[in-house]
Amino acid sequence: MINILIIDDEPEVGHFLSYLLSSKGYTVSLGGSGKDFYQLIRERVYHLVLLDIRLPDANGLDILKELKKTCPGCKSIVMTGYSTIKTAVDAIKLGANDYIEKPFEDIDELESLIDRLLHHNQSVNDSEIHRIAKQTGLVIGSGKEMQHLIMLAYKIAKKNINVLIEGETGTGKEVLAHFVHQASLRSDYPFLAVNCGSLSESLLESELFGHEKGAFTGAIKERKGIFEIANKGTIFLDEIAEASLSTQVKLLRVLETGEYMRVGDEAVRRTNTRIVAASHVDLAGAVEQKMFREDLLYRLEVVKLTIPPLRDRKQDIPELLAYFLKKQQSQLHFSEEAENLLQHYQWPGNIRELVNVVKRATALAEGETRMITSEYLPDKLRAASYDRTSSRASIIPALRKSEKDLQFYLEDWVKHIHQLWAAEQDVGLDEIIQQVKELEVRIGRAFVTKMLKETMGNRKEAAERLQITTRQLRYFLNEKKGG
Ligand SMILES: Nc1ncnc2c1ncn2[C@@H]1O[C@H](COP(=O)(O)OP(=O)(O)OP(=O)(O)O)[C@@H](O)[C@H]1O
Ligand SMILES: [Mg+2]
Repeated sequence: MINILIIDDEPEVGHFLSYLLSSKGYTVSLGGSGKDFYQLIRERVYHLVLLDIRLPDANGLDILKELKKTCPGCKSIVMTGYSTIKTAVDAIKLGANDYIEKPFEDIDELESLIDRLLHHNQSVNDSEIHRIAKQTGLVIGSGKEMQHLIMLAYKIAKKNINVLIEGETGTGKEVLAHFVHQASLRSDYPFLAVNCGSLSESLLESELFGHEKGAFTGAIKERKGIFEIANKGTIFLDEIAEASLSTQVKLLRVLETGEYMRVGDEAVRRTNTRIVAASHVDLAGAVEQKMFREDLLYRLEVVKLTIPPLRDRKQDIPELLAYFLKKQQSQLHFSEEAENLLQHYQWPGNIRELVNVVKRATALAEGETRMITSEYLPDKLRAASYDRTSSRASIIPALRKSEKDLQFYLEDWVKHIHQLWAAEQDVGLDEIIQQVKELEVRIGRAFVTKMLKETMGNRKEAAERLQITTRQLRYFLNEKKGG
């Protein structure tokens, strides 16, 4: 027996759903308020809850949280009107399985959604997500954050709503936009990308909307715009913040009504294109500065997908490295030490920068070695791992905790001195000598720490075995505090 709970304050909706689902053999309970929910949820265990997000006496999101607590295995579908779609998307972020829009336009779709939720397990979704990710060259990685984001993207892809993707440069906004398109019901139609920052206002408008012959100097033939070519498909509007205010007005019109005009033409045309927009600048901030229309932002960000910077999801790095090596058809792999450097770098250019580092390393190492060691990585990666607490932050590499890292430190140190030696420029010998002293202290500290581990922290014994005085031992350890 499968129990379904329906909570909706519109009696017609409740009764319709109740009738529909009972006739399919489900056991249905019906309530019309938050109060009803809190009572009914205690009466039995439900397999599915259909929940109106806007109830007179309760907030749908609060109900959802309660549901996750009292009935964690229960599936949920949120019902929403157009005006509350943003809330419905928040509900999915909170763990609702899906949302449906009222009034119901497609009962078959509703039935199949319920059917899927009740009879398939999550692995059906997962394998579909992985198939599309593979197809679009999107590495998801092992971190929870990206996995949640991609799951959300997958769910909303099938809806007819616009999507805004935010993220720093190189985080994969275009890749994600492509994933959304492929996961949508539009995947048989075109996916076209336009960069709003790379064209002048008039060229951008002609690109988007098309133009008539003679519309401007150089318009020798009529031309279809992207809204026409990508009809039924998806347009990726990259760097949307760069569109001029007058282009923004025209975009707003398309978003609101589906209508637009070619440049130099009065005829109103219609399009059914989904817009996925992206920006690496914060659009809310642009609105505050009056550089971006608030009403356009409101229309674009029905769903906002924010890709975290790579430095906040470093657990994804190994998978990304493996993927790009494979893509380069390289048999090479990174040494442990090199991976360590890649892990410690901050990646201001995000995944694009990572791609470039892999390309450069494979190009340099191919044929020479089978292991990409740190010398095949750009200097900046080594600089970044230098001890940030040291006064010579950008020069001397940090001493890592394990013994293996002493070797790593020494290698970098030697390389650094060699570089200074080879440099055709003035160097400060004082500073170099300072670095030699620092090396002395660090080597001392490394031996002391290692020995203390062996003697289980017995300082006297450690000093004896190192053939130094306990005073010298303290000196090296004190350095650590001061350093
Ligand atoms: N998750 C990912 N899996 C595999 N490759 C990725 C991923 N994210 C980004 N890339 C790769 O990184 C590079 C940059 O991605 P993309 O162009 O989508 O970034 P972007 O966010 O649009 O950057 P920008 O803001 O500079 O336009 C591309 O080569 C892309 O293939
Ligand atoms: Mg881009």
